[in-house]
Amino acid sequence: MNDLSLPSSPGIRQGDASLNPKSQPEPASVISVRGLQLRYGDLVALRDVNLEIPSSQVTAVVGPSGCGKSSFLSCLNRLTDLIPSCRAEGRIRFDDVPDLLHPKVDLLELRRRVGMVFQKPNPFPLSIRRNFELPLREHGVPKDEIPGRMESTLREVGLWKEVADRLNSGAQLLSGGQQQRLCIARALALKPDVILFDEPCSALDPMSSGIVEEHIAALKDRVTVVIVTHNLAQAHRIADRLAVFWVRDGAGTLIEDGPARRVFESPRDPDAALYLRGAKG
Ligand SMILES: Nc1ncnc2c1ncn2[C@@H]1O[C@H](COP(=O)(O)OP(=O)(O)OP(=O)(O)O)[C@@H](O)[C@H]1O
Ligand SMILES: [Mg+2]
Repeated sequence: MNDLSLPSSPGIRQGDASLNPKSQPEPASVISVRGLQLRYGDLVALRDVNLEIPSSQVTAVVGPSGCGKSSFLSCLNRLTDLIPSCRAEGRIRFDDVPDLLHPKVDLLELRRRVGMVFQKPNPFPLSIRRNFELPLREHGVPKDEIPGRMESTLREVGLWKEVADRLNSGAQLLSGGQQQRLCIARALALKPDVILFDEPCSALDPMSSGIVEEHIAALKDRVTVVIVTHNLAQAHRIADRLAVFWVRDGAGTLIEDGPARRVFESPRDPDAALYLRGAKG
């Protein structure tokens, strides 16, 4: 296996606490971002971003509109490749893939392992069942495994009882909150290591938003979650880690990151402090 391939069983490295036995072991990073720069043509959307994303935790990405949060997420599963003017430089290690930005990385496998859920629920305009069959077949999952994966992930997002007797009806007939949970279940059915969420609750009513949020928070037992949110109360409720982006010298910049509680309670960057108090941004 060459060093750019994406094996299906990840071997996540643990942080080495032996250098400082009194400290808590560092959580293992599943994604490590170094010197990331992203341009759209001449516009520098992200400059010199360095961030560790620990596995089995929820990392919330916050900051004012236009500071590059969605662009950052898009780098992590190479959706940036779909935009012709977009160029990403730097180094992103993902588990045992040393350079996720390398042109030879298998994008189908990368996007299986790093799933994405968008702001607006985007079920295929097909039946609920076909929403699972289509991506699972594309990724080579044997036909007889599909019903089991569909049921277990629909159960995981609390949707099974609501849809078990209507699997052949249109996914787009579901409510917005149900559609979003379907999209989460569809991503989970591919057994990803990481799921990226870009403002997954902002198009939902408060009740549905609360339900989706609870399910996202519960996911970290089995996947790493990176979530962009404008809702600081939501970040406060579900995040283990917080990353605050800002526009500095015309480019999106990571101005602070760390354990969510520490960053919320005693931010070191003055802009981050004002933003987190809701006074700026
Ligand atoms: N496809 C694109 N082509 C050109 N410029 C883009 C493109 N997508 C984003 N940008 C620019 O990159 C910068 C960062 O945008 P991005 O969407 O990542 O910000 P954001 O933090 O997600 O904002 P919001 O909170 O409004 O979603 C902005 O200046 C934006 O105009
Ligand atoms: Mg965005």
